[in-house]
Amino acid sequence: MNKLIKRLWKIILGFSMLAIILVFGILYILKINGITEFTSDKPKYVPLVSKDDIRTPEFEKGLELFLNDCKKCHVTKGQLHNYLDGIADKVGVNYLKLYITKQDSLTENKDNYALAIKDDWGNQANSHNFKYSETELNLLMEYLK
Ligand code: HEC
Repeated sequence: MNKLIKRLWKIILGFSMLAIILVFGILYILKINGITEFTSDKPKYVPLVSKDDIRTPEFEKGLELFLNDCKKCHVTKGQLHNYLDGIADKVGVNYLKLYITKQDSLTENKDNYALAIKDDWGNQANSHNFKYSETELNLLMEYLK
């Protein structure tokens, strides 16, 4: 009986060792391949509207446009990981309008900034060629600013 328990114990120990080696092996393979999606640090939560925003009627309309057209990819304007954090200050309102409505023209004409952002995001097929009127663009700017 004692022998049986000893043997069982050895088998369990063996399997646990194997499992540990396997887990570390997989983690090592993911790491050398640059796959880092499984980190424990969560992206910081950023609300759609921050308490610093002044909620004018134009801002609200801009927010509505953003919710309809942008939110499925860009979670909020303040989110660092989707590049919209402080975007209006960073590139300027005029360039931002151009980017949202004519990204294809920018990249076709080898605009350095548009090409660099495309590259940063792994050259995805999407593009920003939104057909907005000048009024709608201005409303969107009120939200993005
Ligand atoms: C289908 C997904 C998708 C939608 C919808 C979308 N975007 Fe984007 N956006 C991206 C991706 C991906 C990038 C990175 C560059 C690229 O691949 O085009 C990007 C980049 C940007 C940039 C450049 C950021 C920088 O650092 O310069 C701006 C500005 C932007 N988007 C604004 C908007 C606005 C405003 C809307 C809504 C009118 C919108 N996007 C809708 C996916 C999207």
